[in-house]
Amino acid sequence: MNVLVTGGAGYIGSHAAQRLLRDGHTVVVVDSLLRGHERAIDRIRPQSGGRLVFAKLDLNERAGIERLIREHGVATVMHFAALAAVGESVENPMLYYRNNTCAMVSLLEACLAAGVERFVFSSSCATYGVPPERMIPIPEHCPQCPISPYGETKLQGERILRDVAEACRRSGRDFSYAALRYFNVAGCDRSGLLGEDHTPETHLIPVVLQAALGRRDGVSVFGTDYPTPDGTCIRDYLHVEDLADAHVKVMEALRPGDERAYNLGIGTGYSVRQIIEAVREVTGADFKVREQARRPGDPPRLFADASRIHAELGWSARITDLREIIDSAWRWFRQNPKGYGG
Ligand code: UFG
Repeated sequence: MNVLVTGGAGYIGSHAAQRLLRDGHTVVVVDSLLRGHERAIDRIRPQSGGRLVFAKLDLNERAGIERLIREHGVATVMHFAALAAVGESVENPMLYYRNNTCAMVSLLEACLAAGVERFVFSSSCATYGVPPERMIPIPEHCPQCPISPYGETKLQGERILRDVAEACRRSGRDFSYAALRYFNVAGCDRSGLLGEDHTPETHLIPVVLQAALGRRDGVSVFGTDYPTPDGTCIRDYLHVEDLADAHVKVMEALRPGDERAYNLGIGTGYSVRQIIEAVREVTGADFKVREQARRPGDPPRLFADASRIHAELGWSARITDLREIIDSAWRWFRQNPKGYGG
């Protein structure tokens, strides 16, 4: 297939692009490079299999995106491009509405004008907000009530797709989509070629690994008074390669008129303190840990009931050992201590 991968120079998008190329697909990456890295593209370019095209373009440039889709005969879009830091979205919501919601509207206009048939959307468990206790692990029918602007933009993305699909059905057009609600994505390509490089870095596992490398002065634990066994937040950490695999399975399964939503996680939650301990074990390094106030927008416990995608498509995470997930990220950070920049 010819697949447009938005955000393909970013952390998750680059891993998905690599996987698609290895499977022999033609991959058209579009990335504004606002947060993505051209070097990620350089690293996946030599992969055997399919053909890679890269265009530096903002999704708000609708006409340019439409041209790209037509030029390369794209019928399938994987939409990863987005800002994805919960804390940043609370501080600067308009940045998120502009880059996530407005950009998605523009992208979809281009897709519809150019006849795209399948759309795989990076949604998030942040759309669930604080789920009721009886709905953890979280199933897809859990009410979606986000508590951060980031989560709100992802829910808006899902709603926009629902309405677009309905309009396409009424007018007899082929259009299908899947909203993939990721839990916390972690780890790196196990060859060490691709990795996670955000500026500033705010995600827990990379932050703790940078502390283990001595590249930052310890780690802050945001909140130790949550209603969890050790008082810190619990998350479901899914390996990025398993996530890429789920995208391919979903893309291959989509049939005209389908509207699907799947939770993607391993189904087990780990606390912030457990992550810190696991990093100490994997790296053998010690570092300072500071207990701090809660970070706004953080729900106490999020982990997935991912049984729907298993039942329907046979997908489940293969890498479920936390130490293996951390070890893959550690390899990247050791080999690329300055990320793609060094
Ligand atoms: N945390 C710390 N110290 C840090 C960084 C994070 O204690 O230095 C804590 C956070 O407060 C949170 C947990 O570690 O409790 C995980 O935080 P992350 O920033 O790594 O991830 P989030 O859970 O906030 O968000 C991530 C992605 C979102 C996605 C969400 C789903 O950024 O895109 O997971 O849970 F939607």
